[in-house]
Amino acid sequence: MKKILSVVGARPNFMKMAPIHKQLLKHKSRVKHKIVHTGQHYDKKMSDVFFKELELPKPDIYLGVGSRSHAEQKAHIMMEFEKVVLKEKPDLVLVYGDINSTSAASIVCAKILNDKGAPIPVAHVESGLRSFDRTMPEEINRMITDTLADYLFVTEPAGIRNLKKEGIKDSKVFFTGNTMIDSLKFYLKKIGKSGILKELCVSEKNYTLVTMHRPSNVDSKENLNKTLSIFKSINKINPELDIVFPIHPRTIKMLEKFKLKSSFDEIKNLIITEPLGYIDFLKLVSEAKFILTDSGGIQEETTYLKVPCLTLRENTERPVTSEIGTNVICGLNEKLIISKIKEIESGKFKKGKIPKLWDGNAAERIVKIILKKV
Ligand code: UD1
Repeated sequence: MKKILSVVGARPNFMKMAPIHKQLLKHKSRVKHKIVHTGQHYDKKMSDVFFKELELPKPDIYLGVGSRSHAEQKAHIMMEFEKVVLKEKPDLVLVYGDINSTSAASIVCAKILNDKGAPIPVAHVESGLRSFDRTMPEEINRMITDTLADYLFVTEPAGIRNLKKEGIKDSKVFFTGNTMIDSLKFYLKKIGKSGILKELCVSEKNYTLVTMHRPSNVDSKENLNKTLSIFKSINKINPELDIVFPIHPRTIKMLEKFKLKSSFDEIKNLIITEPLGYIDFLKLVSEAKFILTDSGGIQEETTYLKVPCLTLRENTERPVTSEIGTNVICGLNEKLIISKIKEIESGKFKKGKIPKLWDGNAAERIVKIILKKV
């Protein structure tokens, strides 16, 4: 019996892993899949709700590292995960996306030799993405993880090009599609039934959904003021449009730190909510008139659902979403954002296409490859 560990830690990891877990269960006579949760996200609303809604079992191993500075957080993950690897002796470790837990686990595996005298093999799900912006903590995590991984599962063509340029051998790279879209497709029916619109008293295509949590946006008073100004302009363009803003713990802390919470509360039509679960959140995405976000994954989910997405960042590591999907990279450029909202309001916004292999079968392709390798 072979043993595979999946390491997850924060919200966007969970929906990337869920379809792989389901596929691996189909082969449970051959492989034992164990879930290791680092505890990077620990609030019920940032973690537990996703395990429940994605029908994942409780993590087999919980490291409980919590929030700290990046160096401390990674160091703690490494110290705790090293013990796990030494005890469990996995045949393969799966890591997901670009969070601190992802790169920390990869480093641990690279430094432990197995019975054959080789490092513990690592497979990276969502490999090859590059924003080329090294001020983003995620970019550093992506580069470290891809340098160390043995199997690199790529979601879009740019990923293959980036890895090639970095000198990674073709034989390690597999274009398998997007497991986040597997989850979305799998739960579409359930998402359709969510009562969140009623709960928030908003109606289909008559609200915009906002998410913001990147340090570059929310750790700066100047940028939070720019967001405030964008919200005021939205009120002016369409006074009927609600603005739904499920707020990340980091963002709420920063609004309080900069004493801006009351200014946001004064915005007409603004509905601030706590972080939402997977099903309710995607219901809100699917019925929104448009989305304003600095998330990575939401750029992909909106492209799949063909909902206009204005990305509040200067770059994207997911270029396919702006090249063929419904995404436009806007930064906090209010003029550009307003002109795009006017295009949306007048029905002139681009329609978008679904990228290749975003078909709900990425996890199946990945597991097929994994089973040949372990
Ligand atoms: C992390 C990921 C980011 C991902 C995001 C999704 C890294 C470098 N960043 O950023 O790529 O897009 O998750 O949310 O790994 N907090 C809580 N409760 C929680 C979790 C966090 O209150 O359950 C607060 C803590 O005060 C913490 C802050 O939020 O300091 C940020 O959390 P952290 O895990 O450091 O990074 P995220 O900003 O969530």
